[in-house]
Amino acid sequence: MSRESTSGQKILIVDDAEEIRLSLSAFLRSWRYTVVQARDGEEAWNILLQSDISLVVSDWSMPVMNGLELCNRIRAASFDRYIYFILLTANTEKADMIAGMEAGADDFLGKPFDQSELRVCIRAGERILHLERRLKRQQQQIVETNAALIQTEKLATLGAIAGSVAHELNSPLGAILNAAERVQAILENVMPAHEELQEDIDLLIRAALHSRAVVADLLISARTPGENETCHVVEVVDGWLRLYKKQLELYGIEYKFVVEETRPVALSYAALSQALTNVLMNARDALIENTEEKERHISLRAEADTSHCIITIQDNGPGISAEVESRLFDAFVTSKEQGKGTGLGLWVTRSLLKKAGGGIVMRNREGGGAEAVMILPLAEL
Ligand SMILES: Nc1ncnc2c1ncn2[C@@H]1O[C@H](COP(=O)(O)OP(=O)(O)OP(=O)(O)O)[C@@H](O)[C@H]1O
Ligand SMILES: [Mg+2]
Repeated sequence: MSRESTSGQKILIVDDAEEIRLSLSAFLRSWRYTVVQARDGEEAWNILLQSDISLVVSDWSMPVMNGLELCNRIRAASFDRYIYFILLTANTEKADMIAGMEAGADDFLGKPFDQSELRVCIRAGERILHLERRLKRQQQQIVETNAALIQTEKLATLGAIAGSVAHELNSPLGAILNAAERVQAILENVMPAHEELQEDIDLLIRAALHSRAVVADLLISARTPGENETCHVVEVVDGWLRLYKKQLELYGIEYKFVVEETRPVALSYAALSQALTNVLMNARDALIENTEEKERHISLRAEADTSHCIITIQDNGPGISAEVESRLFDAFVTSKEQGKGTGLGLWVTRSLLKKAGGGIVMRNREGGGAEAVMILPLAEL
C-alpha cells in the first residue's frame, strides 16, 4: 500500500497482549520502522529512559502501569526530546478520549484497527516530530547567533573604551616620562652616590615606558584605517630588523628572514610593523624564557599568491602552553608574569589584520616551537 518509511524511526509498542504486539510489529516492520516492545507501562518507562525513542503506541489497560499512567509520567518528566504518544484503546467514548487527552496523549487508535488507520496515525506522529526537531534546531541557531552578536558587541565596546582610555592616558604618561628623565639627569649630577633613589627613578621610567607601549598598542588598534593605506612587506621587515637585530644577537637568537618580492599589501606601514613586532617579540620571549640549553632560532618567510601575502613566523621555543592555547587572541590573556606581558599583543595584531581584511592563526609545530601565519590582502592594482 502506501510508501515505505525511510526515516528509520524507532517505535515503542506497549501492550500486555502478545498477539497485538506481534501484529503491530509486523505492520510497522514491513514499513521499515524499527520496533521495540514492552509488556506494560513500567517496562516501557525504563526503555524510554535508556533510549532515544520518541514515538510510542501504547495500549490503555495493562497490568503494573497502564497506558494513561505511562502517558502522564512521560509528560511530567523532562525528556530532552518530545515523545509522541498514541493511545491504543477500545474505549472510544468521549469521556475516555478526554481523559486520554488530559493525560497528554497525541492521538488515539481504536481497537480493532486496520493497517491504513495505523499508517495514518504514525505518519501524523512523524510529521509532528519532524517539525519539533526542526524547531529545536532553529532555536539552537538563534541562541548561538545571539551569543555571537553579544560577543561582537562586547569586543567592539571594549575596543572603543580601550581606545578612549588610551587617548586620555597618552599625554599624562608622556609628561611622567619626561619629568622622570629630567629628575634622573639631575640626580646623576647632584646625588650620583644615592643608589636607592637612582633605582627608584629607573623603575619609574621602566614602568612609564611599559605603560606607553600598551597605550600605543591600544591606540593603533582603535584607529580606523584610512583608504588606500599600503606598504611593502620587505620595507617593513627591513625596518624591523634595523631596530631589533642587535637585540636578537644579544640574546643569541639566530634569525633567517626571507621576503619574496610582492605587490604592496593593503595595510599601513605602522600597522604591519606593529603586527610583526607583536608576533616576533612573542617568539623572542618564548626563546629567552626557555631554559633548555639549545640553539635559538626565529624564521620569517613572506610569499604571495595572486591576491594575498602570507607571512609565516616560526620559532623553536617551548611552544604555546595548553592553558592559553584556546584563548590566545582574547584581550588580556597572558602566560607571562605580572609586568612582563599584558596579553594584548595578539589581540591587537588580530584586530589590525582583520580591519585590513586579513587574519592570523597560531599553532604549535610538530617538531616543537610555535608558528604564526599572517594573511594579508594585496593592495588593489
Ligand atoms: N611564539 C610563542 N611561543 C609560545 N607561546 C606564545 C607564543 N606567542 C604567543 N604565545 C602565548 O600567547 C600569549 C598571549 O600573547 P600576547 O602577545 O597576546 O600577550 P603577551 O605576549 O603575554 O603580552 P603583550 O604582548 O601584551 O606584552 C603569551 O603570553 C604566550 O603564552
Ligand atoms: Mg606579546
